[in-house]
Order: sequence, then C-alpha cells, then structure tokens
Amino acid sequence: MPKAELHLHIEGTLEPGLAFALAERNGVTLPYATEDELRRAYSFADLQSFLDLYYALMAVLRTEDDFADLAHAYLARAKEQGVRHAEIFFDPQAHTARGVPIGTVIGGLARALDSAEDTYGISTRLIMCFLRDETADSALATFEAARPYLDRITAVGLDSAEVGHPPSKFAAVFRLAKEAGLKCVAHAGEEGPPAYVWEALDVLGVDRIDHGVRSMEDERLVARLAAEQVPLTVCPLSNVRLRVIDDLADHPLPAMLEAGLLVTVNSDDPAYFGGYVDDNFTAVRDALGLDPATLRTLARNSFRASFLDEAVREKYL
Ligand code: HPA
Ligand code: ZN
Repeated sequence: MPKAELHLHIEGTLEPGLAFALAERNGVTLPYATEDELRRAYSFADLQSFLDLYYALMAVLRTEDDFADLAHAYLARAKEQGVRHAEIFFDPQAHTARGVPIGTVIGGLARALDSAEDTYGISTRLIMCFLRDETADSALATFEAARPYLDRITAVGLDSAEVGHPPSKFAAVFRLAKEAGLKCVAHAGEEGPPAYVWEALDVLGVDRIDHGVRSMEDERLVARLAAEQVPLTVCPLSNVRLRVIDDLADHPLPAMLEAGLLVTVNSDDPAYFGGYVDDNFTAVRDALGLDPATLRTLARNSFRASFLDEAVREKYL
C-alpha cells in the first residue's frame, strides 16, 4: 500500500551493521564489542533511556558521506515498505555539539535525497528539529546557522526529552521559522501532558503534532484536534518500546480514529524500535484488529497530512 512517512528521525534509522561500519571507517570505538551486544542494549525504560543510546551511537556520524550513506540506507528500506513520500527529521545540534558542521549534515542528507526520486521513487522533505532539552538560545543559534540552507528545509520541529521542556520555551525560534516561510511541527503529548499539545497549537502555531497520544486524556483537546483536522503522527511500536503504552493491544489508535482525528502511522526510530513503517501497519492490524478499509484510511491520511503540494497530494487520495 503506498504511504507517506511523516515521523522519522534519520538518526533513528542507524542500524547496528552501519553503525559498526561507520565506526571502523572513522576510527571511532563503540562501547559494544559486537552487533548482537549492541542490539541487546535496545531495551528501554522510557524516552530518556532510549535518547541516551541514540545520542551515543551518533558518534559514528562524522562526514558528509556518513550522512549520505545513512539516508540511502533508510530510503532503500522505505521503498520496500511502500513509502512514496518521506518527511525526514534531523537533529543538527546532536552533531554540531560534537564538532560536525551543520553544512556537513545537511550537505550529506541533501545529496542522498536529491537522488531519492530517481533511485527509490520516493519524494522527500527535510524537517530540522531543535532539541528541547537544550536552551532556547541554542535553538536560535542553530536556526541562524541553518539560514544558508533554508531552501533545503521544509519545516522545523521539536524533539528530545519532553517533560519539563514545554513548547512555549521555543516560541521565539518558531516565530522566526514562520517568518522565513517554513512549516512547523512539534513532538507533544508523547510523555508530556495534554497542556503541551495546547501550547504547540496556540503558542507555536504548529501544522502537525508528532505523537500526541496523550491528547486523549483531554476531551476539549480531542474536540479541537478533530474540528481543525490537525494531523497527529502516531508511532505505535515506538510507544510500546518507550513504555508510553503498556501493550500494543491497548493502543489508543482506534479511539483516535473513532474520535475523528487525522491520524497517521509512522516508525519514529525504526532501527531501535523493531520495525519500519509497514511493520507498524502490520503490527497495529494484528494487535488491534484493524480492517483493510481502516488501513487504507491511515495510508490516505499520511498523504493528506503531508507537506506535498496540493496537486501532488491529490494523486494519492
Ligand atoms: N521523542 C522525542 N525525541 C525523539 C524521539 C521521540 O520519540 N525520537 C528521536 N528523538
Ligand atoms: Zn519522534
């Protein structure tokens, strides 16, 4: 089934095999002896315990070639999963903090994405995320450093450790991004409360909410999201692995659809969470008993919620 993927961290597609290959190429020593030993570390208590490993493994990403290879590996997997369009997050601060210039990151990703249409039949967009557990000033400095590359960037986003870092902390940088003509998204209501989803809508003026599953705790918020058809990029396998949801069979996805929300299914960090986007579709089909019509609705929603031009979007609906 053709689908768009709208919630995908490119750094979260770093598979153990590529991590070890890049470590070797760059003379970086990983704190794991083998791929199997690394895989055994993929057991998470919460978002932070995942983020600790996610940032540590990024040490192997150093050159433009590394970022291009990472994106090529994702695009090849995405093609097999029926992805026709991908809106891809990247975390510049996680790289610039290690001395990798932002131009290296964007240059490498852009090189791979430039060939994505021809090589994989996948159209792409880039979404630059700010790390919400860093300061608002760091986000502003990152946005200024990215100015020469804004023609490659469709939207800004907000990710990393959510609790204690409300969207309003980033009002200034999101205002600048809007003034520069960029779209806006934010992770909200993953581990954080519904109040963070309200703030993302009212203070940041986002076009989509990433995750947003905790919105279901607030009836008024659900009514607002439904009335305005704000897209929610839900990541079912991620929610289970990060213990946002105890069991996939208890996932609120059916209730979200029932409430009339514009929900999409995505993989988040597929190398870490046990599946790419079609694996997420299969998992929710099996655990929640979703029928073929509902699965088609979810796939159609992914294009409706995308930043593709209207005319292109229509082709998929
Ligand atoms: N939540 C917040 N930050 C992230 C995630 C996530 O699921 N994945 C990568 N960075
Ligand atoms: Zn995410």
